[in-house]
Amino acid sequence: MPVVDLSEHAEEFNADPYPMYAKLRAEGPVHLVRTPPTGTDVWLIVGHEAARAALADPRFGKDWRVLTDEGRTELPAGANMLETDPPQHTRLRKLVAREFTPRRIEALRPRVQDVTDELLDAMLAAPGRTADLVDALAFPLPMTVIAELIGVPDLDRAAFRVLSNQAVAPLTDAGGEDAVREIGGYLAGLIEAKRAGGPADDLLSALIRAGDEDDDQLSPDELIGMAFLLLVAGHETTVNLISNGIRALLAHPDQLAALRADFDGLIDGAVEEMLRYEGPVETATYRFAREPVQVGDVLIPAGAPVLVALASAGRDPQRYDDPDRFDIRRAPQSHLAFGHGIHFCLGAPLARMEGRIAVRTLLERAPDLQLAAGAGELEWLPGMLIRGVRHLPVRW
Ligand code: HEM
Repeated sequence: MPVVDLSEHAEEFNADPYPMYAKLRAEGPVHLVRTPPTGTDVWLIVGHEAARAALADPRFGKDWRVLTDEGRTELPAGANMLETDPPQHTRLRKLVAREFTPRRIEALRPRVQDVTDELLDAMLAAPGRTADLVDALAFPLPMTVIAELIGVPDLDRAAFRVLSNQAVAPLTDAGGEDAVREIGGYLAGLIEAKRAGGPADDLLSALIRAGDEDDDQLSPDELIGMAFLLLVAGHETTVNLISNGIRALLAHPDQLAALRADFDGLIDGAVEEMLRYEGPVETATYRFAREPVQVGDVLIPAGAPVLVALASAGRDPQRYDDPDRFDIRRAPQSHLAFGHGIHFCLGAPLARMEGRIAVRTLLERAPDLQLAAGAGELEWLPGMLIRGVRHLPVRW
């Protein structure tokens, strides 16, 4: 099968990948592509139906360590749920899901509102009535909430942000592995301190104590991996739900006006449409074909790396009428922005709550909010994992 070279026009693709996804989808549900910026060849699944099927297909594994010992790394933050298959995944997910309950999440609602209010107090007091929405709200809100939930309230957030950005950036970016190692070292120290300290009510303390009916416990490495995954997944994504979502609304004044006229009726659907239209996760994390897998007319060979393009699935005309139209009344329940199957996003209820509160409160408190720069000037985050802008200048 010929390779489609996405790295050829990487900058254009990064700024607006949807026309390319549309072209690929029209030709078939799966393609061999060369990905920007690393130039790695992977099998990319672009159709909604094929994407949904692949995400739930046990023939696509996540633990690449079973395939080969080559390139095996022993990073301290290596053992996490997103890199394991059953039965390890089942065990890890069960241990955290027990602590990550709807009740624990719902209890955060007043705090999410308070943090949002405080951030907006500071933002709206800025001289000149302009701000970078990412710095002022979209990043600090989920970062504060996840740090408090896990129990790292005095985390150096600015430093962690730099490291975390590096950790999710494409592999060619220098410092990715060092960043993972540094965060791992920080978390190891924190876990030691929590073990030594008295009982506390936070999630990390609960995970340290946790033992299921077989007295199963997370090993020190697993605890680091879990805390690392929650911290990174808890903010690298939600920041872009808020900024991509506000950007979409401000670019569609009719939709914005409709939402302003009926927050109670439309905010939940609006956030779902933001997730479908421009979700924070462009492609799900790497999977590997454990055996040859037929998708449409194509046979993906055993051992091959596979990416599922969630952003493309959200724009599939076979699934959604007029998919490039941003329509907050669409209620796209079947979107794949949080994934599907056993790795379905653990934090979806928290992310939805944060998104709804942030968007609504911002629009209520800044009735004349506008973009302060043309979309063409925005800097998009590199790589195909995360979809979002580094800064979003707004004025009011
Ligand atoms: C809008 C925000 C978010 C989006 C769009 C999102 C998206 C996703 C997606 C697509 C996956 C599956 C990846 C795959 O199958 O390769 C996932 C998994 C996961 N997410 Fe999220 N996420 C968000 C927020 C959060 C938050 C706030 C947390 C934690 C507090 C979180 C924790 C996780 C965890 C732990 C997994 C791994 C689950 C597993 O392997 O079983 N996410 N997320």
